[in-house]
Amino acid sequence: MEARSPEFRRPVLKDSLLTRAQGRLEIRSPGEEGDGPVWAEFVEGRTGWRLRNAGRGQSIARAVGLKKGKTPPRVVDATAGLGRDAALLAVLGCQVIAVERSPEVHALLLDGLRRALVDPELGPALGGIELLLGDAALLIPEMDPGPEVVLVDPMHPDRGNRAKVRKEMRALRHVVGEDTDAGELAEVARAWARNRVVIKRPAKAPPLLGGPSFQVGGKTVRFDVYLRDE
Ligand SMILES: C[S@@+](CC[C@H](N)C(=O)[O-])C[C@H]1O[C@@H](n2cnc3c(N)ncnc32)[C@H](O)[C@@H]1O
Repeated sequence: MEARSPEFRRPVLKDSLLTRAQGRLEIRSPGEEGDGPVWAEFVEGRTGWRLRNAGRGQSIARAVGLKKGKTPPRVVDATAGLGRDAALLAVLGCQVIAVERSPEVHALLLDGLRRALVDPELGPALGGIELLLGDAALLIPEMDPGPEVVLVDPMHPDRGNRAKVRKEMRALRHVVGEDTDAGELAEVARAWARNRVVIKRPAKAPPLLGGPSFQVGGKTVRFDVYLRDE
């Protein structure tokens, strides 16, 4: 595999506004009428509820191989974004390294995790997430020990799902653009993950790396799992 440039592959779009308001860091996308600010949130709202009620029966838990009586895997979330998957895995007991290459999204995520630290229930698990700024395709080969599991969740095509998701995705898209190099990242993940690669895809999208070992499906999103030994 060819070495990638150590620079970020895509400039951050400077028209998105990173601001501090109400004690948190937010991104506002100009020119998108009706779009409110977007921030990383782990304690309040739907994500907070989901984290407090997380169970091993969830699709992502099954996809990364969480099993009763088995030590939870070390997972590298190669596409951390607003950190919901990383947080869920951490709450479920995984040791998580989360990588985000957009400095603005990384800043939001760091801010959200810091605010969550004081939460007595979620703080201890979320405080264990190691957050890195950089291109996961460059950082993963440098990791020692190498990751057991790599999770890849590139920006999905805008298919006009629920309003809330659309708003967040639009705001993220303003900042990070499309992850057109997702296939390359998936290949790096497959080369370095010791146990498996898990790729999150829209339910109807084709697999990123050809036929997976198995799939864990949801209505809108599915996880393609590529086991190392196959
Ligand atoms: C769809 S979002 C991920 C959402 C995340 N799974 C969550 O639960 O919030 C994709 C994110 O991955 C980041 N990303 C894409 N390719 C990356 C790479 N090679 N290295 C690091 N971050 C990457 C993008 O900047 C974007 O923030």
